[in-house]
Amino acid sequence: MVTISETSYETGLQNGEPIQIDGKTCNGCGICAEVCPRHIPEVEGTGKNKYARVNVARSGLCMYCGQCAAVCPRDSIEVSGLNPDEFKPIQPLAINDEQLLIMMKQRRSVRRYNNKPVPRKVLERIVEAVHLAPTGTGSRTTGVIIIDESEKLKTLSELMYQKYEGLAKALKNPIGRLIVRRNAGKKRLSDLQSFVMPGMRWYIRWYRDGIGDEIRRDCPALMLFHSPINEPMGEENCVVATTYADFMAQVLGIGACRNDLIPPICNRSHKVRELIGLPNDHEVYSSLTLGYSKYKYQRTVPRQVAQVRYL
Ligand SMILES: Cc1cc2nc3c(=O)[nH]c(=O)nc-3n(C[C@H](O)[C@H](O)[C@H](O)COP(=O)(O)O)c2cc1C
Repeated sequence: MVTISETSYETGLQNGEPIQIDGKTCNGCGICAEVCPRHIPEVEGTGKNKYARVNVARSGLCMYCGQCAAVCPRDSIEVSGLNPDEFKPIQPLAINDEQLLIMMKQRRSVRRYNNKPVPRKVLERIVEAVHLAPTGTGSRTTGVIIIDESEKLKTLSELMYQKYEGLAKALKNPIGRLIVRRNAGKKRLSDLQSFVMPGMRWYIRWYRDGIGDEIRRDCPALMLFHSPINEPMGEENCVVATTYADFMAQVLGIGACRNDLIPPICNRSHKVRELIGLPNDHEVYSSLTLGYSKYKYQRTVPRQVAQVRYL
């Protein structure tokens, strides 16, 4: 019988191929081949001499998702870059569908926070959930920036208001609108005019009058999710990661709210890019304000999508 480790050496697996299959323990059951989205492992041989090996023509397509190693009944697979010790045995879930739905029903977008800072330990727990978010290409390129220093947050707010003030001024005249349309596109201009700016004009007034900050909402912590611009599905990856963070925040008793006013400024203001240390080839695609809720919600809100159809 050909041992896979020999095959591995022949195909250069030990020298940077994405997965290694242990020929001594693999029995060629083929489950890894079935679950792999790119069918990188494939089964060869017949009867008792079946074994899985890497298809070298497809190995470059590996997304390093770890599914092959996670599903292997004989623990015969290692994935480059993923520590085998961190593949943990599956545990029975302590939550059920009812508990999950209750959690989802009770989640609220929390926009009013008390002054209490969110401890780093709690933020780290939220980041643990972010690490587990699935990504479109299996890539791990999503970055998280957490700002929890009040001076930095205040500077960020000021820079954001300055930028929105400039935008409000630009949108007042046809040439300004043309420039915004050229830079941001027709759809973004329309969104700005119909949805963002009508509220923003009030926000600016309230901020300048010292009434409050309705962009950042005086959150004690802010999470920014960013991705390389050329990452396929980078934006979607950030949105999914934000949702994971949102759910974990709720379980930890931390109020959270998605905020779409913040990312465009992070991307367009050089000063903000510098403040947050955003790499040149990255954009912030989503953000989550975090803090202890000032108020306790007393009941759930009925919600449903517009339509569900079975065909
Ligand atoms: C994609 C997305 C973007 C959002 N952007 C903002 C935002 O910029 N500011 C804000 O206050 N809430 C934002 N929210 C929160 C929604 O406004 C919120 O979900 C809605 O008010 C319903 O409240 P609930 O989340 O408590 O059910 C956003 C939510 C989503 C899903």
